[in-house]
Amino acid sequence: MIEQLGLSLLRRFDPEIAHGLALRALRAGLGGGRGAVTSARLKTSFAGLDLPNPIGVAAGFDKNAIAVDQTLRTGFGFCEVGAVTPQPQEGNPRPRLFRLAQDRAAINRFGFNNLGMEVIVANLEAHRRDGVVGVNLGANKDTEDKAKDYVAVLQKFAELVDFATVNVSSPNTEKLRDLQGRDALQRLLAEVLAARDRLVRRIPVLLKIAPDLEDKDLVDISDVCVAECVDGIVATNTTLARVGLKAPARMETGGLSGAPLFDKSTAVLRRLFVLTEGKIPLIGAGGVATAEQAYAKIRAGASVVQLYTAMIYDGVSLGSRIAEGLDRLLAADGHIDVTHAVGAGVEESRDAIVA
Ligand code: FNR
Repeated sequence: MIEQLGLSLLRRFDPEIAHGLALRALRAGLGGGRGAVTSARLKTSFAGLDLPNPIGVAAGFDKNAIAVDQTLRTGFGFCEVGAVTPQPQEGNPRPRLFRLAQDRAAINRFGFNNLGMEVIVANLEAHRRDGVVGVNLGANKDTEDKAKDYVAVLQKFAELVDFATVNVSSPNTEKLRDLQGRDALQRLLAEVLAARDRLVRRIPVLLKIAPDLEDKDLVDISDVCVAECVDGIVATNTTLARVGLKAPARMETGGLSGAPLFDKSTAVLRRLFVLTEGKIPLIGAGGVATAEQAYAKIRAGASVVQLYTAMIYDGVSLGSRIAEGLDRLLAADGHIDVTHAVGAGVEESRDAIVA
């Protein structure tokens, strides 16, 4: 009720200002919550990390690690801060975040605005981090050698985070997505993973990909990730596609997230699950707003799920509601735990084809 009031108030503000206010309110403790929702069925592990439940906060929600503890306390199983770049960066001119309320979606062209790794590390240090926290690695706009930036941020955060995500899929930094091509990706991952192997503490490194890829790209990405022993793949980031949208802001430049991304990102996830033969854990992101959708991502091959845009419309308590609903859905289908349901929908459709 109070959250609904807060959300309708925030809707009167420019979306970027509203998000800043929401983060500040969260930091001040207005999000409430008693900690991660959990149960024997929801407890799971991903890339060697133990999680109370598989519902996480996607990158971009708390770029500067302002409200990490408070976000976790609302019920989420884990969160990812960033994207963080070595140098602070202004990003693109405002306005650069748009609500598409009729479509339950958002478009952003932030361009990796963040306070830079020195400040964000200090912000994160100030948190207790009572839960699993990852960092989304970004590269500064003007850096030619993007790998150097990813490595610098990885090294900076190594002692503070539980995982790091190489983000080569933001549509708002020129040439970034070219790093998804086979050779460029192989070189980039080899360099980042070699740097990871030199760290005192081994942290899982994930790769985050775009939904706008051809099947041959997905084949290449899967091959490279298996060969380089990447610890996980996040599918997916925002899309450049604009299909079936109604909201006035639909033709704004940038990445589209939320409801219209669900099917496309789930198709990419399902394809990756088949291509990697379950050898690499997958994180499903894109358009999740309900427990049924989180469950659908898991059945399509996701070991864990992340969300962001649905919180713009339904508030930060959505994470706990989805986790609780997921517990019921798993029970109804007779799954003893999350792991038992991973890829179940893919297996069933295979069995149906064989039969
Ligand atoms: C994002 N996303 C994102 N991803 C990333 O890897 N690094 C980032 O810095 C950001 N920044 C960002 C800002 C905003 C405003 C949005 C809406 C999204 C992408 C995000 O993590 C997620 O992959 C997609 O938004 C799809 O999930 P949802 O939002 O549909 O649940």
